[in-house]
Amino acid sequence: MTDAAATQPSNAAFTPRVFSGIQPSGDLHLGNYLGALKRFADAQNQGIETVYCMVDQHAITVWQDPAELRRSTRELAAGFIASGIDPAKSILFNQSQVAEHAQLAWVFNCVARMGWMQRMTQWKDKAGKNQQNASLGLFAYPSLMAADILLYHATHVPVGEDQKQHLELTRDIATKFNNDFGVDFFPITEPVITGTATRVMSLRDGAKKMSKSDPSDASRINMTDDADTIAKKIRKAKSDADALPSEAKGLEERAEARNLVNIYAAMADMSVDAVLAEVGGKQFSEFKPMLAELAVEKLAPISAEMARLMQHEDEIDAILRAGADRARAIAAPILQKTYDIVGMIR
Ligand code: AMP
Ligand code: TRP
Repeated sequence: MTDAAATQPSNAAFTPRVFSGIQPSGDLHLGNYLGALKRFADAQNQGIETVYCMVDQHAITVWQDPAELRRSTRELAAGFIASGIDPAKSILFNQSQVAEHAQLAWVFNCVARMGWMQRMTQWKDKAGKNQQNASLGLFAYPSLMAADILLYHATHVPVGEDQKQHLELTRDIATKFNNDFGVDFFPITEPVITGTATRVMSLRDGAKKMSKSDPSDASRINMTDDADTIAKKIRKAKSDADALPSEAKGLEERAEARNLVNIYAAMADMSVDAVLAEVGGKQFSEFKPMLAELAVEKLAPISAEMARLMQHEDEIDAILRAGADRARAIAAPILQKTYDIVGMIR
């Protein structure tokens, strides 16, 4: 991360701060864990200031059942904590509890241009053919995301590959704001898209991303799956009939094999080459049980802790309230300064 920051001299004035968010809109899976939560915990443990947010206001850009939204928000908080996000070290909170997000997003709605939003591939995918019937919030979504990040003057944002375009838009908004008002107020945030698991693929189809919206439950490992289910899904995962190669190059044309090796590497905190140095030459009949054992060892304690926390909603709610207070302490002065810059009277 220090390397990335060094390439952005205009950010030198900003203290390194990591921000990221996840939507509470369904079940967490291995892609969320390896692509997001585990990396969030790693950043926290490097001693950088880390701010993590449950973005419920992003979730409601498409319909959410109210009771289900409440449950998903708490389950996501439980997922963060069980994955090693320590509410004493990181700021962990729920977006709607810090009103400044929506307030800054309004200012950014007036900075961002329609054309920028229209180019977003996630907007095109989610709105589909019927754009006229999509919510205005879904269209403006990247502007709220920029507000999430810039409200904390975050310098680094760990995300999966799919969020790269939204991060570029965040940089565009920061740049235009700074230029329009002749200030150097918002940092030009760096996306952090690193590691072997920025794109965990479906266990049934190596060309498709592991996703909560895949109708087949066998396509993903849910963070709430128990040990037996995890092992069974890995046993049944699509692979091929060849032995594993001893170098990453040998996985190029083998999407399913590559995915399983990537998952192993990310969970074991090893490079793909280091994994292949150990397992090269083995058949999947031998590798899959190794992968299943590792997955159970890493994930079963997480799902157990999530289940325990979900029995104690008060504990979760208290953590989120305390996190929101800490978040607001950073966000409120930055919003106030933004209002001053824009010319709003205090
Ligand atoms: P989502 O589940 O799409 O709301 O994403 C929440 C976070 O998990 C984001 O940072 C995504 O980039 C990340 N993520 C989601 N699916 C995957 C996947 N299959 N592989 C890696 N990261 C993912
Ligand atoms: N758009 C992100 C997603 O769908 C979630 C998100 C909202 C986010 N605000 C953010 C991610 C700020 C990083 C930083 O996954």
